[in-house]
Amino acid sequence: MRRPTGVPALAVLCSGQGTNLQALLEATRTGRLRARVAVVISDRAASNALARATRAGIEAHFVDPKAYPSRGEFEQVLLTLCAAHRVRAVCLAGFMRLLSPVFVRPYAGRLLNIHPALLPAFPGAHAIRDALAWGAKVTGVTVHLVDEEVDHGPILLQELVRIAPGETEASLLKKLHRVEHRLYPQALRQVLAGRVRLTGRVARLTGA
Ligand code: GAR
Repeated sequence: MRRPTGVPALAVLCSGQGTNLQALLEATRTGRLRARVAVVISDRAASNALARATRAGIEAHFVDPKAYPSRGEFEQVLLTLCAAHRVRAVCLAGFMRLLSPVFVRPYAGRLLNIHPALLPAFPGAHAIRDALAWGAKVTGVTVHLVDEEVDHGPILLQELVRIAPGETEASLLKKLHRVEHRLYPQALRQVLAGRVRLTGRVARLTGA
């Protein structure tokens, strides 16, 4: 069991590139976010996020969902890792896996996700492709609290991004990432400061 240091500990759960993880690390390093990433967990061995964490000297774990007989047992391992680091808040950063109440309940209100669309439009794993295929003229970024449904919980922050004529997946991804990397630390700061008030599924950020 790690000793608490007063600075809130974070767990970041990833499946892919880890650019949002990098943005969170940068925000903690520069003091824009008073927190420390204590542990990074990936459900994919080849996730670049694990390499980023290791380079930054942060404990990184690949937890293979296929190694466990049930989703609940897989999530129990995630919970144990978070408990060992006394994690205050958990950030899903491109973690492409639905979490059950086993993990969601203990971290209710402290479990965040970032999504590259203005939810409830274009949920799921292909939001950028879907927005382009739909012919949307605007899309954006959403940071929200996580519940048991896909890209669904109370919205904390959203920001609009315009889709230009001739936009490609690559060019739109670049625009969205720029916004994501700024918005995620901002939303997390509000959660860690206890500035989120929930009325049903409506989140109000006090003093934001
Ligand atoms: C991000 O764009 C994030 O919004 C998206 O995965 C990407 C991960 O990129 N998440 C979802 O689509 C959730 N439904 P990263 O690994 O470079 O941070």
